[in-house]
Amino acid sequence: MHRSGGGHVFSKSRLSPPPGDVERYPTEMHVDIRDASTHDAAAISLLVSSLAREHIGPSLGPGGLDVLIASLDFDSTLQRLKDDWLHLAAFDDRDLVAVVVVKPPIHLYHLFVRSDLQRSGIGTKLLDEADRRVQRSCGLRLATVNSSLNAVSAYMRFGFKPDGGVVDIDGVRFQPMSRHDCG
Ligand SMILES: CC(C)(COP(=O)(O)OP(=O)(O)OC[C@H]1O[C@@H](n2cnc3c(N)ncnc32)[C@H](O)[C@@H]1OP(=O)(O)O)[C@@H](O)C(=O)NCCC(=O)NCCS
Repeated sequence: MHRSGGGHVFSKSRLSPPPGDVERYPTEMHVDIRDASTHDAAAISLLVSSLAREHIGPSLGPGGLDVLIASLDFDSTLQRLKDDWLHLAAFDDRDLVAVVVVKPPIHLYHLFVRSDLQRSGIGTKLLDEADRRVQRSCGLRLATVNSSLNAVSAYMRFGFKPDGGVVDIDGVRFQPMSRHDCG
């Protein structure tokens, strides 16, 4: 398997959680991060569609889930890959477990982590690597994201702040957020 890009990382930057916090940090595991290619389009589409149904669906308005799922289908995913949007994929020993997608130049388009691995630092690792790539290519950090309503708290932990009010387009509800520091 071709493994360029972020390379091998341990998702456990926090192997020693503070007392009482152990529940938030599952057992040690590692992921490999690499650039996704068009060969990964089906796996990416499957993963993000399933996570969107589970985590984002309940926050959407009427018809919103259909619109969102259509934007995550195989053809749309393949097109983004062909358009050279940055796609970094995280794999455990066998499977794709997480993905980050950047709409050039500095818009965080997707960040999805498999449900059983959420809150184990994988999202942070992917975002950090995406930031490094973006910084290398244009000198800036990822600055904007349209956060699904379920993920606003997580993006605030990543340094983004709400930018205006919640937007609803055809039932797809999201909170525009931005990050202005250059750190
Ligand atoms: C949002 C998401 C990508 C975060 O990835 P993750 O791997 O779970 O994030 P991390 O483990 O790196 O956690 C980063 C920080 O965010 C916090 N966090 C993660 N998910 C959170 C949530 N749902 N609510 C509140 N805080 C959250 C973590 O506690 C951590 O905070 P800390 O640094 O103070 O410990 C992941 O939960 C996910 O895939 N959610 C479902 C799909 C989704 O909604 N994606 C966003 C689409 S716009």
